[in-house]
Amino acid sequence: MIIKKETDISPLEITDEGLYVNRREFIAATAAIAITGAIPDLFAREGDADLKLNVGKSGAYTGGEKTTPVLDATHYNNFYEFSTEKEDVAERSKSFRTRPWTVSVEGHVNKPRLYDIDEVMKMFPLEERIYRFRCVEAWSMVIPWVGFPLGDFIKRCEPTSKAKFVEFTTLKDQKQMPGQTLDVLDWPYIEGLRFDEALNPLTMLAVGMYGKVLPSQNGAPLRLVVPWKYGFKNIKSIVRIRFVEQMPISAWMKANPREYGFYSNVNPEIDHPRWSQARERRIGEIAKRNTLMFNGYSEQVAHMYAGMDLRKYF
Ligand code: MTE
Repeated sequence: MIIKKETDISPLEITDEGLYVNRREFIAATAAIAITGAIPDLFAREGDADLKLNVGKSGAYTGGEKTTPVLDATHYNNFYEFSTEKEDVAERSKSFRTRPWTVSVEGHVNKPRLYDIDEVMKMFPLEERIYRFRCVEAWSMVIPWVGFPLGDFIKRCEPTSKAKFVEFTTLKDQKQMPGQTLDVLDWPYIEGLRFDEALNPLTMLAVGMYGKVLPSQNGAPLRLVVPWKYGFKNIKSIVRIRFVEQMPISAWMKANPREYGFYSNVNPEIDHPRWSQARERRIGEIAKRNTLMFNGYSEQVAHMYAGMDLRKYF
């Protein structure tokens, strides 16, 4: 058995189950409600705080589960570019600039292009979808995302038959993202999906949550939402989408291939090497619940993995 030195253990592996809202911010927010009677704008950010989202149709995918309070979803974040402390990300990402912002489409496509984010936001009708979100660290939330199917965007790029995987890259900017000065991960953050996973109707590119533009800490201005996979597949603040032939090596696979595989499908039967994945704590609840296969989305996604050994392809 390999025993890891403390310095080899990445912060993502350390589960802190107690505090999930930064006390300082939480107290400030509740005090503001008490004084003004209004809910403070948790989403306010320089530049695009006033942007209104025009959400059209909405689809509920969670079978009527209660959504996570917005204060929790926006103050308990994994976004290592800003901090490895979940309670600190909101504060540290406050002045993150999301305009101007471009997304570069590259690789095996007929239409490689540099898109402006404001163009992307108007390209497709925005819809709200309530999805379960299951972090690899065994906590979960239910979040109303606003966005559009990744598949719609992909079709517009006209991928060629050589495109077998889609690779996503986060912004690299040490000046704005102080976490990138630490070698916790090999920056920039990279994630990937197999082509059929990317085209699955559940897979979204999100530009908002709770009816508003995404706050920085949740991955503004554009992030991936893949609800049947562990949280870390949901890459934030995307600047590049590349169509490739080979399976991309994600930042987490590179950091620890034994613990983080390419697929990372939520699976209660396959334990993380150092903890069980059978149960999860829904943020805001005391009792743990059973984790569902594919996070409860088997009907929509299980067919993509038929015949695959999920222990090998974890
Ligand atoms: N994307 C980037 N660029 N950097 C990160 O550190 N963390 C991932 C994922 N996307 C991360 C990221 C992890 S581990 C999780 S659980 C989710 O974002 C958290 O998303 P949330 O803060 O919106 O809940």
